[in-house]
Order: sequence, then structure tokens, then C-alpha cells
Amino acid sequence: MKITTKAIKSKKSRERITMITAYDALFARLASEAGADIILVGDSLGNVVLGYESTIPVTMGMMLHHTSAVSRAKPESLVVADLPFARAQRSCESLIDDCARLVQDGGAEAVKIEGGASIAQKIEKLSESGIAVMAHIGLQPQQYLKLGGYRKFGKTPEERAILMRDAKTLESAGAFALLMEMTDPQAASEITSELSIPTIGIASGSGCDGQVMVFADILGFTQNPPAFAKKFADLHTDVIKAYKTYFDEVRSGKYPQ
Ligand code: KIV
Repeated sequence: MKITTKAIKSKKSRERITMITAYDALFARLASEAGADIILVGDSLGNVVLGYESTIPVTMGMMLHHTSAVSRAKPESLVVADLPFARAQRSCESLIDDCARLVQDGGAEAVKIEGGASIAQKIEKLSESGIAVMAHIGLQPQQYLKLGGYRKFGKTPEERAILMRDAKTLESAGAFALLMEMTDPQAASEITSELSIPTIGIASGSGCDGQVMVFADILGFTQNPPAFAKKFADLHTDVIKAYKTYFDEVRSGKYPQ
């Protein structure tokens, strides 16, 4: 059965939400078949499959290309697409236009936007336009150049207060869910219990309503995965082994027979 934003919201406090990235039809089909609640066409596709150092070079064109591939797989999972770098800071009209393209042309069912209370008014407008928004606070990887790297958020009382204010403002603005990345686990738990919308965590402890991971990290494709990523398979080794066997058999004439 197709999973909707309504179904995701109703899971809050009832059932943990599962979310995984996919950037093409092949892995979208696999994630859906395995029962993912949400597929995220994350701008992490920049690092994971396009060979960039960060998510910053990812453009609207790239997001549309990959989101369309995922939605063509017709997954039962809800398809959420990332809004790329610096697009949320443009005018409200441009932002609505970008999000509408991800939905109308890319087939996304919701858009994930990095940013706190400062973009809440725009999220309200998106919501009024009928665009479902997943907000994203804590570490916002699109701030990589400004931050000079990646770090944890919510370690000080001041930062925890800002996160709580951001979370509540984004909920009031109409976000249907909130993603928290590299957020202090205690802060993430407190935010989760204060909100009525579901929270999804990554490197933010077990107190969120759901968890998201980058598919290549949990499948063992990533050479230097982040410390918090549990490896549920070692597909790097399996793929190399299968390729080598195929190449050996071609060279030796064993395959094809
Ligand atoms: O782009 C992405 O994959 C993400 C997750 C890491 C949350 O934003």
C-alpha cells in the first residue's frame, strides 16, 4: 500500500519510522520491497554517487534527474526529495517554483529543506501551496563551507534552546516531519517528546520517532563510513568478488560456455 505523509504522521509514538536514501530506480525498488517507509532522494547523492566532496555542487537539474528515476520505480515508500544548496534562501516565489518542480516534474511526494526558524514563513507558504515539507535541523550539511566541516549540534544549553525553538516554529509552520542530524541525543529526545509531528534522526540517538541512513553506508559500499553507521552487509567485498569471478571466467573462456 502506498505510504502517504498522513500515514507517516500517524506512526508517531506508535511505530518507529524507517527511512533510507536511494538515488535511482534500482535501489528505490529494493528499498520499497524491503519495506522502507520513506525513500529520501538526498543531496548526499553528490558525495555518494556523483563523486563530489560535499552536497554543495548538487543542482536542481541533478535532483530532478535522480528524483524522477526514483519515482519511476513507483515505490510504495513515500518519496522525499532534497532541496539543493542555497535554494531555500531565495524569494518565496522561487522556492515554491523549485519545490513544485521537484513534485510535478520529479514525482516527489514531499520536499526536505535544511533550515531553522528563519525559513518558517516560507514553509508556511509551501504548506499553503499543498507542498509537504520535511524540515531538517541540527547539522545542515549544506552549511559545510560556512562551518568549515561537520560537527555535532545541541551540546550547550544555548544551542539546545535554539534547536527546540526551531523545531517548534517549523512544526507550527506546517512541516509534516522533522529530521535531526548529528543532534545531541538528549536534545533530540526532548524535541521528539515536545512535538506532535514525527522526528527522524541520523547520528542523533535512539529517542527519535524514526531513523534515516545513507544506503551505501549500511550496505558496506562506503570505504570510510561515518562512525555511527552500522554495516548490515559487505556489498563492496561481494561486488568485487563477483566482478573478479566474471572477469576471470571471461579471460579463461569458462564463460560464456
Ligand atoms: O542528503 C541526505 O542523504 C540527507 C541525510 C543524510 C539525512 O540529508
